[in-house]
Amino acid sequence: MKILFLHGWQSVPGGVKPTFLKDHGHTVINPALDDDDFDAAVTTAQAEYDQHQPDVVVGSSRGGAVAMNIDSHDTPLVLLCPAWKKWGTVTKLKPNATILHSRKDDVVPFGHSEELVANSGVPAPTLMEVGNDHRLADPKPLAKMLEACETHCQMALMFSFYEGLARKGPGSEATTLKALAMLGELPPTPRIVDFGCGAGAASIAIAKAIDCQITASDIHAPFLAEVNEHARRAGLSERIETLLADMADPPIPDDSVDLIWSEGAVYNIGFEAGLKRWRRLLRPGGLIAVTELTWLTDEPSQPAVEFWEAEYPAISHVDTNLKKMRSAGFEIINHFTLPTDDWHNFYGPVEQRIASFREQHAENDVARAILDMQQTEVDLWKKHGDSYGYVFYLGRAV
Ligand SMILES: C[S@@+](CC[C@H](N)C(=O)[O-])C[C@H]1O[C@@H](n2cnc3c(N)ncnc32)[C@H](O)[C@@H]1O
Repeated sequence: MKILFLHGWQSVPGGVKPTFLKDHGHTVINPALDDDDFDAAVTTAQAEYDQHQPDVVVGSSRGGAVAMNIDSHDTPLVLLCPAWKKWGTVTKLKPNATILHSRKDDVVPFGHSEELVANSGVPAPTLMEVGNDHRLADPKPLAKMLEACETHCQMALMFSFYEGLARKGPGSEATTLKALAMLGELPPTPRIVDFGCGAGAASIAIAKAIDCQITASDIHAPFLAEVNEHARRAGLSERIETLLADMADPPIPDDSVDLIWSEGAVYNIGFEAGLKRWRRLLRPGGLIAVTELTWLTDEPSQPAVEFWEAEYPAISHVDTNLKKMRSAGFEIINHFTLPTDDWHNFYGPVEQRIASFREQHAENDVARAILDMQQTEVDLWKKHGDSYGYVFYLGRAV
């Protein structure tokens, strides 16, 4: 992994933290930053970023403020007690950032990081409390810093793996339209939110079929760029807007939505938790249409059980999910299993992507592990796909 490390005020390149990252096999770019002139420090950091295109940017204290003030596109940030209130003009974080901070920090108050998280509308776990001082150079914070970098790198690779794929989970236009038809009559020009929309395949299918206003929402900005492009090409830009947000805490008013849609995405926060959280966004009698990975038999094959118990232990049977829907405040309208073709629709392009990524990232251990895992999942489905499937669950708020 290539890491751009931005040191703190009156610190120098080659300190404990960049050395720790280097000792764990990573390439660390660690420029000297001007101590007196913040803008000059930002210019230096930007030039290093542009030249090296790192996988992660780590910024410590004032270096954290420098990291926030450079244009780092979608590159994840790991900020160690960032001194953003003292230096720079940026007061918000990108979604793919982690802050490590000690409550005992007597240089940059922990409360500044709490304020930064609150300003930015990012999930609370973005801020991790660790260590006993401002330096964060003890074994525990060092290990946390490394872990945050590696996790972000894995996530970034996972996201880039799916960039450009029209469907980022099993599904098809026919299935989306079948679910839409099963919901029955909708209010005129319904307000719809598509959570975890990916490239917006479902949103586009719905907007083509009915007069509506859709908010297509995802946590990954490049996917939303794909939505905008597909909507533009289909002449649907007027019906579809995008929203960069965490589905666990969307900035959408309560009682404002007629239909919540989500294909292959609610698992990110859990089926029941997602339904409960989204229920209050719906107007009275509002509708929900969600797909969820589900056991299709009482005796799933052993390899399938072993795989999904490790990867998605919350996987349940249809009856259990219907109960969860009811307990989240919905009556059941209908449910159906997605056809096998919807898996081919997804895994076909995924297998092609695995092959091209293997060539592209031949030297990258993290990428190899991710690709092996993807291939294992596809192979499992080929052999044991009759044990599980995606089920569309359709309900009405009661
Ligand atoms: C398996 S993909 C499905 C995408 C799309 N619905 C489809 O069927 O093609 C899951 C999507 O959920 C998004 N996602 C993951 N975690 C999220 C979160 N916490 N909030 C919003 N979106 C999230 C991912 O970026 C991804 O686009």
